[in-house]
Amino acid sequence: KRVAVLISGSGSNLQALIEASRSPDYPAEIVLVLSNRPGVFGLERAAAAEIPSVVIPHGDYPSRAAFDAAMQSVLTQNDIDCICLAGFMRILTPSFTKAWEGRMLNIHPSLLPAFKGYDAIGQVLASSVSVTGASVHTVTSEVDAGDIVAQGAVRRDPDDTRESLTGRIHAVEHLLYPYALRSFLRGEASPPPAPALSGAVFS
Ligand code: GRF
Repeated sequence: KRVAVLISGSGSNLQALIEASRSPDYPAEIVLVLSNRPGVFGLERAAAAEIPSVVIPHGDYPSRAAFDAAMQSVLTQNDIDCICLAGFMRILTPSFTKAWEGRMLNIHPSLLPAFKGYDAIGQVLASSVSVTGASVHTVTSEVDAGDIVAQGAVRRDPDDTRESLTGRIHAVEHLLYPYALRSFLRGEASPPPAPALSGAVFS
């Protein structure tokens, strides 16, 4: 499948998907990276992997609908089958989510349906939960809803800082997203990743 990854920042999850897709039996090829922000590090990752990228600065468009239409046209030109949102910080219009229904995934740094929305890690730190994690889910018009494709759990320590917890969540995300995309595209339950991280649980 021809996959486009949509980013707004560092792109560490993009990197994990690029690396997974290099394996010959991986069912996805990352053929396009699309960013709504110029100059972000994820674009350098795409260049280093020789993957074409397009920047569509959202501020150049008068409305969300016009911005989404610009993205749609680039995605259509590139014959994209499936979209992975990876740190993409724009809310999509219902007509865009409808057009990609069943063909668009997102990764969110919490165990959904807990801690939806902006700054999930901050929400976790402000709560008393002792377990959190990351979720890959299909994208619908409702933010951070949709069906859960896969989740990875991460312990939350009492003395966690934002940096320490973010680091552990990222490490789980980088295993989880490639695994979730693979099982999603194969339409089958595949074995979860080997327990490469101590304390991480996938389901
Ligand atoms: C990840 O934590 C993801 O869950 C959230 O945004 C972050 C993106 O990080 N949606 P990166 O750009 O992939 O490094």
